[in-house]
Amino acid sequence: MSERIFIGAAWPYANGPLHLGHIAGAYLPPDIFARYHRLKGNDVLMVSGSDQHGTPITLRAFEEGRPPREIAAHYHEEFLDSWEKIGISFDLFTSTDTPNHHRVAQDFFLALKDKGYIYQDTMALLYCPRCNRFLPDRYVEGTCPHCHSEGVRGDQCDNCGKPLNPVDLIDPYCRLCSSLPEVRESEHFFLRLSAFNDQLLEWVKGQSHWKQNVLNFTINLLTEGLKDRSITRDIEWGIPVPIPGFESKRIYVWFEAVIGYLSASKEWAKNSGDEEKWRQFWQGDAKSYYFIGKDNVPFHTIIWPAMLMGDGELNLPYDVPANEFLTLGGKPFSTSRNFAVWLPDYLERYDPDPLRYFLSVNMPEGADTDFSWQEFVRRNNDELVATYGNLVHRVLTFTYRSFDGAIPPHGEFDEKSEALLKKTKVVLDTVDRLLHQCHFREAIRTAMSLAQEANRYLDEKAPWKRMKEDREGSATSLYAALCVISCLKTVLYPFLPFSSQKLHRLLGFEGRVEEDGWSIAKLPPGQKLAPPEPLFTKLDESVAAEETARLESARAG
Ligand code: MF3
Ligand code: ZN
Repeated sequence: MSERIFIGAAWPYANGPLHLGHIAGAYLPPDIFARYHRLKGNDVLMVSGSDQHGTPITLRAFEEGRPPREIAAHYHEEFLDSWEKIGISFDLFTSTDTPNHHRVAQDFFLALKDKGYIYQDTMALLYCPRCNRFLPDRYVEGTCPHCHSEGVRGDQCDNCGKPLNPVDLIDPYCRLCSSLPEVRESEHFFLRLSAFNDQLLEWVKGQSHWKQNVLNFTINLLTEGLKDRSITRDIEWGIPVPIPGFESKRIYVWFEAVIGYLSASKEWAKNSGDEEKWRQFWQGDAKSYYFIGKDNVPFHTIIWPAMLMGDGELNLPYDVPANEFLTLGGKPFSTSRNFAVWLPDYLERYDPDPLRYFLSVNMPEGADTDFSWQEFVRRNNDELVATYGNLVHRVLTFTYRSFDGAIPPHGEFDEKSEALLKKTKVVLDTVDRLLHQCHFREAIRTAMSLAQEANRYLDEKAPWKRMKEDREGSATSLYAALCVISCLKTVLYPFLPFSSQKLHRLLGFEGRVEEDGWSIAKLPPGQKLAPPEPLFTKLDESVAAEETARLESARAG
């Protein structure tokens, strides 16, 4: 029976380009997962969109002297282009500035308010007397009241990960003019998170399949006890609060952005011609997975689930496989210091699959991992080119040349060949299980170990040397190697979709890889092969030095 899988990927703020850290953390993992499930024949809905509101956007607009909508629209287009080039296969990548999202978010707000989970109250806020404005979220910085790191933003501490309220900051200062803010009162709406504390704790304790770090972080916050949180802001850019008297305020960006998962599903359903189809992914036995970076954990394991509990009719997350961070040469990626490998730059110069490969074998699944150009070049050359690429290329070129450009018939398989063929089935099953559990790193490493094994097998059998005296034996070992390649085409497809599609064609198949499902495609003797081409390109060692120099010279501050 086919499964229904809803996949949400964190909505990137449309205030700057994507970098490799974003991809490793929140976009490549859901894409691998979606491609895997589609191959398995399951029903997948993968959505996200650009997060267009809130202070990350308005601050950027202020710095650049452009309207927020223009900034957001620009990056939205750039995101779409990047997804296409790197092969992140969203069923829909929309934005939070659509009329549909505004409506769904406002309706959600009103529904929770009707149920008493949203209430109005007076709140003390920081106000900058010099800028004459309230200072929500990122407009104010100061010291974290929990872990005492300095220079943290008013909405969340980057060091300890806890969500914050600006008034709780120690020694706050205005981000625009550095003045000391004063406290002023303003009317706002609050989400009654405290009402969900027990229910959330009970639910979370049952999620033993979650990653340990996600589980522990969430249980800690719940054990400390949740406070109600304000979900409206004194700001002009965002979704209007649907209540008379609140015309000058907006819904808090985090409250509405998480609703994007639902509004995007509704938009997708509408586009598909069946407006109610979103329900298949939000109700009943559909499973929902949310792929995010670790800084987004509390919003996806506490706030969004609380909102869903309040609503009462929609599925809670099944899993939130948050990733740790990718570092760059041992240092954090930093947008503000322009210290990053930007995805659009990468894609202009290199192919998508080598990056997908690197970020998959090095995925920051359980701990931070590092990207360096040196390692990137090394893995491309030693692993993709020398192990996988070489296996494919030597088998295909030799077969093509020696057997009339077609799959040869095979004779009896000897013990070694049988063992190799058996291993393809084991790898198919093992990678299946690992991907099902979101263990991406181990999955790709397992697949690559099959390529290594096949290389050893070929070195031993050396069909190229034995052609003259034993044509049938050579054909048989090549055939076994071709079966391995056929298996690799499938198990590596979620990670390396472009190369798998190419391999599919080189092996003489038509159509798309996805159509063969999660199986080792049979290779009928006599099937015509396409003229061989290498799958990957070796990178010159100088690439590492050039790119590292480029990084250092771009770095500011
Ligand atoms: N825009 C947020 C960030 O980049 C992520 C939002 S995820 C969502 O950190 F689900 F809330 F949309
Ligand atoms: Zn802190």
